[in-house]
Amino acid sequence: MHHEEFRRLGHAVVDRLADYFETVDDRPVAADVEPAEVMRHFQEPPPRSGKAGEEVLAELDEKLMPYCTHTGSGGYMGLITASPLPVGVLGDFIASALNQNVGVYSIGPSAVAMERETVRWLCELAGYGAGAGGNLTSGGMTANLIGLKLARDAVSSAHDSGVEGKWAVYTSEERHVSVDKAVDLVGFGREGLRAIPTDDVLRVRLDALEEALAQDKARGVRPACIVAMAGSTNTGAVDDLEALRRIADREGIWLHADAAYGGGLLVSGRFRETLRGIEQADSITIDPHKWFYAPVDAGAVLVRDAGALTRSFSIRPAYLTELDDAGERYAFYEHGLEQSRRFRALKVWMSFKRYGTDEIGRWVDANVDQARHLHALAEAHPRFASITEPPMSAACVRYLPRRELDEDSVHRLHDAVAARIERGGEFWIGTTRIKGHSWFRACPVNFRTTREHMDRLFALLERECAVLEAAR
Ligand SMILES: Cc1ncc(COP(=O)(O)O)c(C=O)c1O
Repeated sequence: MHHEEFRRLGHAVVDRLADYFETVDDRPVAADVEPAEVMRHFQEPPPRSGKAGEEVLAELDEKLMPYCTHTGSGGYMGLITASPLPVGVLGDFIASALNQNVGVYSIGPSAVAMERETVRWLCELAGYGAGAGGNLTSGGMTANLIGLKLARDAVSSAHDSGVEGKWAVYTSEERHVSVDKAVDLVGFGREGLRAIPTDDVLRVRLDALEEALAQDKARGVRPACIVAMAGSTNTGAVDDLEALRRIADREGIWLHADAAYGGGLLVSGRFRETLRGIEQADSITIDPHKWFYAPVDAGAVLVRDAGALTRSFSIRPAYLTELDDAGERYAFYEHGLEQSRRFRALKVWMSFKRYGTDEIGRWVDANVDQARHLHALAEAHPRFASITEPPMSAACVRYLPRRELDEDSVHRLHDAVAARIERGGEFWIGTTRIKGHSWFRACPVNFRTTREHMDRLFALLERECAVLEAAR
């Protein structure tokens, strides 16, 4: 592509995206379309000859744009994907153009420096001291996997000789499923995961944890790690991080805190205290692509002692001759899982520069207020209940049918209502199950959402639940 064509097409793309952001709130949040129809648009043999860039863009208008879920719309409050900050979108654009491969220093000296500093900012926000470090990752899944690998390598010799004997990882019944995958991937096996019951505000019950530890030790199963929730996916629950630290110390095991979602509160002006004790974790997952409003992908794993990353991942192949003992030409490759790595730091760095943590923190606080408003509306209504006052931005509310219905029927009713809401296009919310009950789950990580969205959402829930119940 000649650079003049790039300039012309690039301007056309930026114009389209500026229009997109201007109108994103007017679009249906999700498309009312069958999956097969979406697939049909893309089914064709690999193109053997090219066509003009403008024609390719026209195809996007026809095939891509109408079937997107608009996470940037104020009505999107579903699975945790942020409304992306436009400045972060520009960052991603630039990152692709420069194509710095931050796995090694020589393919991106300034990009490596920027990522190191961005990681340092995150460490500072988390309360870590000097000596901490980390990596930006594809997301929370990878960050939790790295956390679990660090835990395994801290307590065993599995890094060299493979996993021997039985090991257990202790985590909340409210954990994210990435913890299950990580426990499997590091070789402990899914049977090595202990899902500890939670109390009525969804925090791990310490008595149940102690019991599980004692039972395992009596059977010769060795404890490896506690994975604490610092903002559970369902409700934003935060475990007692200080108590878990004390237990981990007593047992001589690793403490990993999963703040993939909840890490947003690190910049909160009003709710930072919710994450009290997070700085005591050995490692932390925190996803800028969740509550720091970065476009996917930008996760992070932070480690209190950065040396743990090097001990766990360092390997020096002959073709990477540039690795130096002084560590001046820092190679993320040597201190993390990935070799080729996208220049993820740029969008996060640019967002922090453009808005500052105070402004981002105000959006985070507003999202918490919105969730609490929905909670209050549900609590004040005779036919609704809320599971708990949201510590973060995830509100779980449920409809209480007039007739006695079993829980599966209530779940089907909730699913049907959520599906109608999706088709209606004004909002996107999910459903979930917690403690044997079905819930609607609305979770704005969205700087366009307002309190008024919550009023409208609740009115819609009220109406749709009543209509569907009457039709049954
Ligand atoms: C608490 C928690 N941990 C981990 C993850 C996984 O993060 P990702 O989807 O970025 O891999 C999520 C995703 O929602 C999450 O809520």
